[in-house]
Amino acid sequence: MTLAAAALAANALAADLAAGKKKVEEICAACHGIDGAKPTTPEYPKLAGQYPDYLAKALRDYKSGARKNPIMAGMAATLTDKDIENVAMYFYVQPSELASRY
Ligand code: HEC
Repeated sequence: MTLAAAALAANALAADLAAGKKKVEEICAACHGIDGAKPTTPEYPKLAGQYPDYLAKALRDYKSGARKNPIMAGMAATLTDKDIENVAMYFYVQPSELASRY
């Protein structure tokens, strides 16, 4: 296992994947799909397999207004820092055509 993979595995343990999944079911699945791999329309980005630090940064930036999108600003506003960590790790571990982590 590489150092980067070990660090990600440690993060996956720290994040609560079940809590992440619950949030996604409640809010995000309506657009991004439950596994983040099959968004409900092509305008909604695929999230499955995306790096968790990227996803978490995007969510923090929508929340702070550093990244501007009216839809996602509203979504991110409802998430705590822990929610962000959980949903980012949940999407990262989903099977995906975006990922090349082998
Ligand atoms: C109403 C539809 C909708 C819902 C619900 C929604 N999103 Fe999004 N999401 C979008 C759209 C549209 C974009 C693209 C915005 C942009 O261009 O910045 C996006 C972008 C993102 C991005 C950035 C992706 C990238 O490649 O940079 C992340 C991360 C994200 N959403 C996570 C979530 C999470 C987590 C939730 C649930 C808490 C959620 N979204 C709920 C529509 C939605």
